[in-house]
Amino acid sequence: MTYACIKGTGGYLPEKVLTNFDLEKMVDTTDQWIVERTGIHRRHIAAVGETALSMAEQAAQIAIADAGLEARDVGLIIVATTTPEKMFPSTACLLQQRLQIAGCPAFDLNSAACAGFIYALAVADQFIRNNTVKNALVIGSEVMSKVLDWNDRSTCILFGDGAGAVVLGASDSPGIVSTHLHADGTHKDVLSLGIGLGKPLAVEEALYLKMSGNQLFKLAVKRLGDLFDETLAANGLDRSSVDWLIPHQANIRIIQAMAKKLNLPLERVAITLQDQGNTSSASIPLALDKAIREKKIKRGDRLMLESFGGGLAWGSALIKY
Ligand code: UT7
Repeated sequence: MTYACIKGTGGYLPEKVLTNFDLEKMVDTTDQWIVERTGIHRRHIAAVGETALSMAEQAAQIAIADAGLEARDVGLIIVATTTPEKMFPSTACLLQQRLQIAGCPAFDLNSAACAGFIYALAVADQFIRNNTVKNALVIGSEVMSKVLDWNDRSTCILFGDGAGAVVLGASDSPGIVSTHLHADGTHKDVLSLGIGLGKPLAVEEALYLKMSGNQLFKLAVKRLGDLFDETLAANGLDRSSVDWLIPHQANIRIIQAMAKKLNLPLERVAITLQDQGNTSSASIPLALDKAIREKKIKRGDRLMLESFGGGLAWGSALIKY
């Protein structure tokens, strides 16, 4: 059997930081409300000229070096992003050009929103398990600041920009133990971004992310809880077998509920949202990279990754690091 294991990770955050106090001057909100309801204190915002591509490149270079590889060793690039450089060429193709590794398959996964990284990881896992590629670069990169209505206090306080990357490599032991993906289009209106070539939309609907936060919150807690049960049952494990939770960073209250479900103390949860906000598909690889760099996560630890977002789409990955 061939498995996909994590060989290296990397992350990139723009230099500019926007605090809750900065937001108090922009919309009718308070630092206290944002911290109490979300756990977020600050987030990074891309500079003019910084894009999903430029941030993906930074994170990718770090992850490739961390894996002890050269760019030419990469056999597949998947970029998860809802804020791509262009409709096409894909951000992944543009990144491939920058890495000067023409020839390998490269594509974006931009339809799974905040669950994009888990979806991309699951796809790359299949390529490696099938012995189609040896090393895959899986990236989540987002400039959420460009799709926010900065007059809408219910959304603009939540998100941030950044990129995280993972290099997966073939191994004869896991690695990625299992991935579990789900979607439910009946809740398509709970979280959406209208940009596209469908029927014409009003400007606000077309250009800005729209969210029914409270509804999404309840759906996330229920579906992710069920997903943990599914993931553990598929592997004949119970919750005591999980060493670390690497959650999507949407809301500290969702993260706390998920930690409780796994019976994990918050010290065993990779949390970055206080400093980064919700970076959509970048949030999991960024949190993973930080916890590895801080030497919290050790080789052999069993990790539960989970994410939930627009679609609705959600998924988990159980990984032996
Ligand atoms: O990444 C994809 C997955 N994302 C998620 O899963 C996000 C899930 N949702 C959430 O994290 C939370 O629902 C939010 C943080 C978005 C909102 O928290 P909430 O506790 O659900 O608040 P709410 O939407 O029910 O709003 C409560 C009140 C409202 O006022 P009234 O109607 O009670 O008078 C809002 O108008 O808070 C008000 N409010 C604000 N007040 C100050 C909403 N946004 C703000 C704000 N500052 N920024």
